[in-house]
Amino acid sequence: MNFASDTTAPAHPLVIEAMNRVNTGIAPSYGSDAVTARLRALLANVLETEDFDFWITASGTASNALALSCFCPPTGAVLCHEEAHIERDERGAVEFFSGGGKLRLLPGFGAKIDPQALTAALESNKPDFVHETPMHVLSLTNLTECGMVYRPEEISAYAERAKAAGLWVHVDGARFANAILGTGSMPAAMSWQAGVDVLNLGLTKTGAAGCEIILLFGAAREKFPELKARAKRSGHMPPKMRFLAAQAEAMLTGSLWTKLAGDANRMARRLADGFEAKGFKQAYPCEGNEVFVMLPSEISAKLRAAGAVFYDWPGGSCRLICSWETAETDVDALLAVL
Ligand SMILES: Cc1ncc(COP(=O)(O)O)c(C=O)c1O
Repeated sequence: MNFASDTTAPAHPLVIEAMNRVNTGIAPSYGSDAVTARLRALLANVLETEDFDFWITASGTASNALALSCFCPPTGAVLCHEEAHIERDERGAVEFFSGGGKLRLLPGFGAKIDPQALTAALESNKPDFVHETPMHVLSLTNLTECGMVYRPEEISAYAERAKAAGLWVHVDGARFANAILGTGSMPAAMSWQAGVDVLNLGLTKTGAAGCEIILLFGAAREKFPELKARAKRSGHMPPKMRFLAAQAEAMLTGSLWTKLAGDANRMARRLADGFEAKGFKQAYPCEGNEVFVMLPSEISAKLRAAGAVFYDWPGGSCRLICSWETAETDVDALLAVL
Protein backbone atom coordinates (compact mmCIF):
# COMPACT_ATOMS: atom_id res chain seq x y z
CA MET A 1 0.00 0.00 0.00
CA ASN A 2 2.81 2.38 -0.86
CA PHE A 3 1.39 5.39 -2.66
CA ALA A 4 4.15 7.85 -1.70
CA SER A 5 5.43 8.48 -5.22
CA ASP A 6 6.06 6.84 -8.56
CA THR A 7 9.76 7.43 -7.87
CA THR A 8 9.64 4.74 -5.15
CA ALA A 9 8.96 2.04 -7.77
CA PRO A 10 11.81 -0.04 -9.16
CA ALA A 11 12.95 0.28 -12.75
CA HIS A 12 11.10 -2.02 -15.12
CA PRO A 13 13.02 -5.27 -15.78
CA LEU A 14 13.20 -4.51 -19.52
CA VAL A 15 15.07 -1.29 -18.67
CA ILE A 16 17.63 -3.17 -16.59
CA GLU A 17 17.94 -5.81 -19.33
CA ALA A 18 18.61 -3.06 -21.87
CA MET A 19 21.32 -1.56 -19.64
CA ASN A 20 22.87 -5.00 -19.31
CA ARG A 21 22.76 -5.53 -23.06
CA VAL A 22 24.81 -2.39 -23.75
CA ASN A 23 27.26 -3.27 -21.01
CA THR A 24 29.79 -4.87 -23.32
CA GLY A 25 32.86 -3.59 -25.09
CA ILE A 26 34.19 -0.16 -25.85
CA ALA A 27 31.85 2.64 -26.87
CA PRO A 28 32.46 6.33 -27.58
CA SER A 29 31.58 8.53 -24.62
CA TYR A 30 29.50 11.66 -23.90
CA GLY A 31 26.64 10.72 -26.21
CA SER A 32 28.65 9.80 -29.31
CA ASP A 33 27.79 6.10 -28.92
CA ALA A 34 25.62 3.92 -31.14
CA VAL A 35 22.82 3.53 -28.57
CA THR A 36 22.32 7.30 -28.34
CA ALA A 37 22.36 7.50 -32.15
CA ARG A 38 19.66 4.80 -32.36
CA LEU A 39 17.63 6.68 -29.77
CA ARG A 40 17.43 9.67 -32.10
CA ALA A 41 15.58 7.59 -34.70
CA LEU A 42 13.26 6.21 -32.06
CA LEU A 43 12.46 9.68 -30.73
CA ALA A 44 11.82 10.91 -34.27
CA ASN A 45 9.33 8.11 -34.71
CA VAL A 46 7.59 8.67 -31.37
CA LEU A 47 7.43 12.44 -31.83
CA GLU A 48 6.68 12.36 -35.57
CA THR A 49 9.40 14.88 -36.42
CA GLU A 50 13.07 15.11 -37.31
CA ASP A 51 13.24 18.75 -36.31
CA PHE A 52 14.66 18.36 -32.81
CA ASP A 53 17.80 18.01 -30.72
CA PHE A 54 17.97 16.16 -27.42
CA TRP A 55 20.02 15.69 -24.32
CA ILE A 56 19.62 13.16 -21.50
CA THR A 57 20.03 13.75 -17.78
CA ALA A 58 19.39 11.54 -14.78
CA SER A 59 16.96 13.82 -12.92
CA GLY A 60 13.94 15.96 -13.65
CA THR A 61 15.33 18.86 -11.66
CA ALA A 62 18.50 18.89 -13.77
CA SER A 63 16.44 18.70 -16.97
CA ASN A 64 14.15 21.56 -15.99
CA ALA A 65 16.92 23.81 -14.72
CA LEU A 66 19.31 23.15 -17.59
CA ALA A 67 16.63 23.60 -20.23
CA LEU A 68 15.18 26.75 -18.73
CA SER A 69 18.59 28.33 -18.18
CA CYS A 70 19.12 28.30 -21.95
CA PHE A 71 16.00 30.40 -22.49
CA CYS A 72 15.91 32.66 -19.43
CA PRO A 73 18.83 35.09 -18.95
CA PRO A 74 19.99 36.18 -15.46
CA THR A 75 17.98 39.37 -15.87
CA GLY A 76 14.77 37.65 -17.00
CA ALA A 77 11.88 35.59 -15.63
CA VAL A 78 10.08 32.31 -16.22
CA LEU A 79 6.31 32.41 -15.94
CA CYS A 80 4.94 29.37 -14.12
CA HIS A 81 2.23 28.21 -11.74
CA GLU A 82 2.67 29.06 -8.07
CA GLU A 83 2.59 25.31 -7.27
CA ALA A 84 5.01 24.35 -10.06
CA HIS A 85 7.71 21.86 -9.14
CA ILE A 86 10.33 24.35 -10.35
CA GLU A 87 8.97 26.84 -7.78
CA ARG A 88 8.16 24.66 -4.78
CA ASP A 89 10.41 21.67 -4.93
CA GLU A 90 13.72 22.40 -6.65
CA ARG A 91 15.52 24.62 -4.12
CA GLY A 92 15.95 27.44 -6.59
CA ALA A 93 17.56 25.24 -9.26
CA VAL A 94 16.23 27.35 -12.13
CA GLU A 95 17.43 30.54 -10.45
CA PHE A 96 20.81 28.88 -9.76
CA PHE A 97 21.32 27.47 -13.26
CA SER A 98 20.17 30.66 -14.95
CA GLY A 99 22.47 32.76 -12.79
CA GLY A 100 19.68 34.72 -11.16
CA GLY A 101 16.63 34.48 -13.43
CA LYS A 102 13.36 34.81 -11.50
CA LEU A 103 10.20 32.75 -11.44
CA ARG A 104 7.04 34.78 -11.82
CA LEU A 105 4.09 32.92 -10.30
CA LEU A 106 0.53 32.62 -11.52
CA PRO A 107 -2.55 31.12 -9.83
CA GLY A 108 -5.03 28.56 -11.15
CA PHE A 109 -7.04 25.52 -10.03
CA GLY A 110 -5.28 22.16 -10.01
CA ALA A 111 -1.85 23.71 -10.66
CA LYS A 112 -3.08 24.72 -14.13
CA ILE A 113 -2.30 28.32 -14.96
CA ASP A 114 -5.47 30.38 -15.05
CA PRO A 115 -5.93 31.71 -18.63
CA GLN A 116 -6.96 35.18 -17.49
CA ALA A 117 -3.99 35.45 -15.14
CA LEU A 118 -1.76 34.44 -18.05
CA THR A 119 -3.25 37.10 -20.31
CA ALA A 120 -2.84 39.78 -17.63
CA ALA A 121 0.77 38.79 -16.99
CA LEU A 122 1.65 38.76 -20.69
CA GLU A 123 -0.04 42.11 -21.26
CA SER A 124 2.04 43.61 -18.45
CA ASN A 125 5.32 42.37 -19.94
CA LYS A 126 7.56 45.31 -20.83
CA PRO A 127 10.82 43.83 -22.16
CA ASP A 128 12.38 47.27 -22.74
CA PHE A 129 11.47 48.80 -19.37
CA VAL A 130 14.61 48.47 -17.28
CA HIS A 131 12.84 48.64 -13.92
CA GLU A 132 10.84 45.43 -14.41
CA THR A 133 11.95 41.84 -14.97
CA PRO A 134 10.85 40.73 -18.43
CA MET A 135 9.44 37.25 -18.96
CA HIS A 136 11.26 35.00 -21.39
CA VAL A 137 9.62 31.61 -20.94
CA LEU A 138 6.21 30.17 -20.11
CA SER A 139 6.60 26.88 -18.24
CA LEU A 140 3.68 24.43 -18.00
CA THR A 141 3.73 21.11 -16.13
CA ASN A 142 1.90 18.18 -17.74
CA LEU A 143 0.60 16.27 -15.73
CA THR A 144 0.31 19.16 -13.34
CA GLU A 145 1.51 18.97 -9.76
CA CYS A 146 -2.15 18.29 -8.83
CA GLY A 147 -2.50 15.44 -11.30
CA MET A 148 -4.49 17.31 -13.94
CA VAL A 149 -3.81 17.50 -17.67
CA TYR A 150 -3.38 20.30 -20.17
CA ARG A 151 -5.05 19.13 -23.41
CA PRO A 152 -3.45 19.89 -26.79
CA GLU A 153 -5.90 22.69 -27.57
CA GLU A 154 -5.17 24.34 -24.20
CA ILE A 155 -1.41 24.09 -24.76
CA SER A 156 -1.84 25.58 -28.25
CA ALA A 157 -3.89 28.48 -26.93
CA TYR A 158 -1.37 29.20 -24.16
CA ALA A 159 1.60 28.83 -26.50
CA GLU A 160 0.08 31.13 -29.09
CA ARG A 161 -0.40 33.87 -26.51
CA ALA A 162 3.05 33.37 -24.99
CA LYS A 163 4.73 33.48 -28.39
CA ALA A 164 2.85 36.59 -29.43
CA ALA A 165 4.43 38.20 -26.35
CA GLY A 166 7.89 36.93 -27.35
CA LEU A 167 8.17 34.06 -24.85
CA TRP A 168 9.44 30.53 -25.37
CA VAL A 169 7.28 27.63 -24.19
CA HIS A 170 8.64 24.92 -21.89
CA VAL A 171 6.86 21.82 -20.61
CA ASP A 172 7.93 19.96 -17.49
CA GLY A 173 6.88 16.49 -18.59
CA ALA A 174 8.03 14.53 -15.56
CA ARG A 175 4.78 12.59 -16.07
CA PHE A 176 4.37 13.26 -19.79
CA ALA A 177 3.32 9.67 -20.55
CA ASN A 178 0.59 9.84 -17.90
CA ALA A 179 -0.64 13.08 -19.48
CA ILE A 180 -0.66 11.53 -22.97
CA LEU A 181 -2.70 8.61 -21.70
CA GLY A 182 -4.91 10.95 -19.66
CA THR A 183 -5.84 12.98 -22.74
CA GLY A 184 -5.70 10.19 -25.31
CA SER A 185 -3.42 12.42 -27.42
CA MET A 186 -0.27 11.73 -29.38
CA PRO A 187 3.12 12.94 -28.06
CA ALA A 188 3.45 15.28 -31.06
CA ALA A 189 0.05 16.86 -30.39
CA MET A 190 1.04 17.45 -26.76
CA SER A 191 4.37 19.04 -27.65
CA TRP A 192 5.76 20.64 -30.83
CA GLN A 193 2.49 20.62 -32.76
CA ALA A 194 0.96 22.64 -29.91
CA GLY A 195 3.81 25.16 -29.98
CA VAL A 196 6.03 23.68 -27.27
CA ASP A 197 9.68 24.68 -27.84
CA VAL A 198 11.32 22.65 -25.12
CA LEU A 199 10.01 19.51 -23.47
CA ASN A 200 11.42 17.58 -20.56
CA LEU A 201 10.23 14.11 -21.40
CA GLY A 202 10.48 12.29 -18.11
CA LEU A 203 10.88 8.54 -18.12
CA THR A 204 12.07 7.92 -14.56
CA LYS A 205 8.64 8.11 -12.94
CA THR A 206 7.22 6.06 -15.79
CA GLY A 207 9.58 3.12 -15.17
CA ALA A 208 13.21 3.97 -16.05
CA ALA A 209 16.00 3.95 -13.47
CA GLY A 210 16.98 7.57 -14.11
CA CYS A 211 16.38 9.03 -17.54
CA GLU A 212 14.93 12.43 -18.48
CA ILE A 213 15.16 13.69 -22.04
CA ILE A 214 15.39 17.39 -22.86
CA LEU A 215 13.96 17.96 -26.35
CA LEU A 216 14.46 21.20 -28.27
CA PHE A 217 12.07 21.63 -31.20
CA GLY A 218 12.28 23.86 -34.29
CA ALA A 219 13.67 27.33 -33.62
CA ALA A 220 14.65 26.29 -30.07
CA ARG A 221 17.37 24.09 -31.59
CA GLU A 222 19.56 27.19 -31.84
CA LYS A 223 20.12 26.74 -28.09
CA PHE A 224 21.52 23.23 -28.43
CA PRO A 225 25.22 24.24 -28.33
CA GLU A 226 24.49 26.28 -25.22
CA LEU A 227 22.56 23.40 -23.67
CA LYS A 228 25.52 21.09 -24.17
CA ALA A 229 27.96 23.65 -22.79
CA ARG A 230 25.76 24.17 -19.73
CA ALA A 231 25.35 20.41 -19.30
CA LYS A 232 29.12 20.03 -19.26
CA ARG A 233 29.69 22.94 -16.93
CA SER A 234 27.07 21.78 -14.43
CA GLY A 235 28.18 18.14 -14.44
CA HIS A 236 25.26 16.79 -16.45
CA MET A 237 27.28 15.29 -19.29
CA PRO A 238 27.46 11.62 -18.31
CA PRO A 239 30.54 10.01 -19.88
CA LYS A 240 28.79 6.62 -20.22
CA MET A 241 25.72 8.06 -21.86
CA ARG A 242 24.94 4.70 -23.47
CA PHE A 243 23.43 3.52 -20.15
CA LEU A 244 20.97 6.42 -20.07
CA ALA A 245 20.17 6.05 -23.76
CA ALA A 246 19.58 2.32 -23.26
CA GLN A 247 16.93 3.10 -20.67
CA ALA A 248 15.13 5.42 -23.06
CA GLU A 249 15.44 2.90 -25.86
CA ALA A 250 13.85 0.20 -23.72
CA MET A 251 11.04 2.50 -22.63
CA LEU A 252 10.21 3.84 -26.09
CA THR A 253 10.49 0.52 -27.92
CA GLY A 254 7.19 -1.29 -28.39
CA SER A 255 5.35 1.45 -26.46
CA LEU A 256 6.54 0.16 -23.09
CA TRP A 257 6.40 3.70 -21.69
CA THR A 258 2.74 4.24 -22.56
CA LYS A 259 1.79 0.75 -21.42
CA LEU A 260 3.38 1.39 -18.02
CA ALA A 261 1.83 4.85 -17.71
CA GLY A 262 -1.54 3.40 -18.73
CA ASP A 263 -1.26 0.78 -15.98
CA ALA A 264 -0.42 3.48 -13.40
CA ASN A 265 -3.32 5.64 -14.60
CA ARG A 266 -5.75 2.72 -14.36
CA MET A 267 -4.73 2.01 -10.79
CA ALA A 268 -5.19 5.68 -9.89
CA ARG A 269 -8.67 5.58 -11.47
CA ARG A 270 -9.53 2.48 -9.42
CA LEU A 271 -8.36 4.22 -6.26
CA ALA A 272 -10.23 7.44 -7.08
CA ASP A 273 -13.44 5.54 -7.84
CA GLY A 274 -13.05 3.59 -4.60
CA PHE A 275 -12.73 6.82 -2.58
CA GLU A 276 -15.74 8.32 -4.38
CA ALA A 277 -17.82 5.21 -3.78
CA LYS A 278 -17.13 5.52 -0.05
CA GLY A 279 -18.12 9.19 -0.05
CA PHE A 280 -14.67 10.83 0.06
CA LYS A 281 -14.36 13.83 -2.22
CA GLN A 282 -11.41 14.42 -4.47
CA ALA A 283 -9.65 17.78 -4.32
CA TYR A 284 -8.85 17.56 -8.05
CA PRO A 285 -10.17 15.27 -10.75
CA CYS A 286 -7.99 12.22 -11.31
CA GLU A 287 -6.67 12.63 -14.87
CA GLY A 288 -3.43 10.65 -14.62
CA ASN A 289 -1.70 8.54 -12.01
CA GLU A 290 -2.28 10.78 -8.98
CA VAL A 291 -5.21 10.95 -6.57
CA PHE A 292 -5.83 13.90 -4.23
CA VAL A 293 -8.53 13.03 -1.73
CA MET A 294 -10.01 14.87 1.24
CA LEU A 295 -9.69 12.53 4.22
CA PRO A 296 -10.48 13.41 7.84
CA SER A 297 -7.26 13.19 9.85
CA GLU A 298 -8.49 10.25 11.95
CA ILE A 299 -9.13 8.27 8.77
CA SER A 300 -5.73 9.05 7.23
CA ALA A 301 -4.11 8.12 10.56
CA LYS A 302 -5.89 4.75 10.57
CA LEU A 303 -4.89 4.07 6.97
CA ARG A 304 -1.28 4.83 7.87
CA ALA A 305 -1.48 2.67 10.99
CA ALA A 306 -2.59 -0.18 8.71
CA GLY A 307 0.52 0.33 6.56
CA ALA A 308 -0.59 2.72 3.85
CA VAL A 309 1.99 5.30 2.76
CA PHE A 310 1.03 8.64 1.22
CA TYR A 311 1.61 12.37 1.70
CA ASP A 312 -0.48 15.16 3.15
CA TRP A 313 -0.72 17.87 0.51
CA PRO A 314 -0.98 21.67 0.83
CA GLY A 315 -4.65 22.61 0.72
CA GLY A 316 -5.73 19.81 3.05
CA SER A 317 -5.90 16.79 0.77
CA CYS A 318 -3.89 13.56 0.81
CA ARG A 319 -1.84 12.71 -2.28
CA LEU A 320 -1.65 9.11 -3.44
CA ILE A 321 0.44 8.24 -6.51
CA CYS A 322 0.32 4.99 -8.48
CA SER A 323 3.29 3.65 -10.39
CA TRP A 324 3.75 1.02 -13.09
CA GLU A 325 4.20 -1.49 -10.27
CA THR A 326 1.08 -0.64 -8.27
CA ALA A 327 -1.10 -3.73 -8.17
CA GLU A 328 -4.88 -4.00 -7.93
CA THR A 329 -4.28 -5.81 -4.65
CA ASP A 330 -2.51 -2.70 -3.25
CA VAL A 331 -5.44 -0.50 -4.21
CA ASP A 332 -8.05 -2.95 -2.98
CA ALA A 333 -6.19 -3.48 0.30
CA LEU A 334 -6.28 0.26 1.02
CA LEU A 335 -9.95 0.50 0.08
CA ALA A 336 -10.72 -2.48 2.33
CA VAL A 337 -9.08 -0.72 5.29
CA LEU A 338 -11.01 2.42 4.41
C1 LIG B 1 6.33 17.61 -11.90
C2 LIG B 1 7.74 17.29 -11.53
N1 LIG B 1 8.75 17.87 -12.18
C3 LIG B 1 10.04 17.61 -11.90
C4 LIG B 1 10.37 16.73 -10.90
C5 LIG B 1 11.83 16.55 -10.57
O1 LIG B 1 12.29 15.29 -10.75
P1 LIG B 1 13.58 14.75 -9.95
O2 LIG B 1 13.08 14.34 -8.60
O3 LIG B 1 14.01 13.60 -10.81
O4 LIG B 1 14.59 15.82 -9.88
C6 LIG B 1 9.35 16.07 -10.19
C7 LIG B 1 9.69 15.12 -9.11
O5 LIG B 1 8.90 14.74 -8.31
C8 LIG B 1 8.01 16.37 -10.50
O6 LIG B 1 7.00 15.80 -9.83
